[in-house]
Amino acid sequence: MDIMQDLIARAKADKQRIVLPEGTEERTIKAADRLIADGVAEIILIGNPADIQKLAAEYDLKNIDKATIIDPKNHEKKAAYANLLFQLRQKKGMTEEKAAILVEDPLYLGCLIIKAGDADGEIAGAMNTTGNVLRPALQIIKTAPGISCVSGAFLMFTKTPQYGKDGLLVFADCAVIPNPKVEELASIAIATAQTAKHIAGIEEPRVAMLSFSTKGSASHEMVDKVVEATRLAKEMCPDLKVDGELQADAALVEKVAAQKAPGSDIAGKANVLVFPTLEVGNIAYKLVQRLGGAEAVGPILQGMAAPVNDLSRGCSVDDIYKMVAIACNQAIALKAAKNK
Ligand code: ACO
Repeated sequence: MDIMQDLIARAKADKQRIVLPEGTEERTIKAADRLIADGVAEIILIGNPADIQKLAAEYDLKNIDKATIIDPKNHEKKAAYANLLFQLRQKKGMTEEKAAILVEDPLYLGCLIIKAGDADGEIAGAMNTTGNVLRPALQIIKTAPGISCVSGAFLMFTKTPQYGKDGLLVFADCAVIPNPKVEELASIAIATAQTAKHIAGIEEPRVAMLSFSTKGSASHEMVDKVVEATRLAKEMCPDLKVDGELQADAALVEKVAAQKAPGSDIAGKANVLVFPTLEVGNIAYKLVQRLGGAEAVGPILQGMAAPVNDLSRGCSVDDIYKMVAIACNQAIALKAAKNK
């Protein structure tokens, strides 16, 4: 996993401010300690300061005093963040009373800190569901300019070096949109190619739009959706190397590609796999991970105006550490795109 070392090195070279809303969670605080010790990011922990200090002493963590600790119930910017939430969401029915309550919710507070420009990204989900992590981010941080939807990608470090970049492939959407519309599927393809380039270090992303059909071998409205999304992705991003609809074997295996999709410059060489629905994307990454022994890193939420990444509730300290390094790189790439 040299790519992970590269991501950590890049994060250290341009330190970003990362919020960890689950600041009193054991794995989170242990990861925070290591991240600070290694100089990967500036860490903002949300939680009761006394509880955080007690945990730091209990786990013998020496670096937590270098984190910024924000007590959600009592801090100097509480009224300002509550007002920001009210201003952002009043057209959606937010009242000042509701905002005053929600600002104490660490998952809302984390996103408000980012929206106010006081942090660059967030990692949560060690104790919260994907939906609960995502909802405030979608409501407050919203999508990056030119991107219509947020989706979730996984870096799949497989044991099959003949595929992808020495076995590394990027899968999406595996985490967010249950049944993407044509425009959303096209947007997922474009965002995943960017993730492949900026995070996975894949210089030339080759995107396969997957289906149960290859180049018209089956007719069905689900196939039509993938064909139309492929066309739209090319139209939206003429430089994107994308092809579809392709079956997974035609996308990956050169011999199969030669038979089923002759002339395609993606078939047999794909390193980015875009799935037609969340069901298939989520099931596929877990099967490749569990049956194929791949290491799955993610979900990396792509398309957001600032990185907010979700953790599995079964995550390890190491997983949190890596996701912070990834979020730092996403923040660096987003800032570079903004300044272009
Ligand atoms: N991209 C951008 N914006 C979005 C998206 C999206 N994909 N989805 C919703 N939004 C916006 C909406 O436009 C809305 O904005 P608004 O309030 O300003 O109008 C806001 O987010 C809330 O939208 P809702 O549809 O009301 O949100 P909902 O409560 O339905 O939740 C969520 C959205 C959480 C992403 C939902 O689609 C979901 O639960 N997805 C599945 C997540 C999941 O369980 N994944 C599998 C597990 S993850 C894993 O195994 C790795």
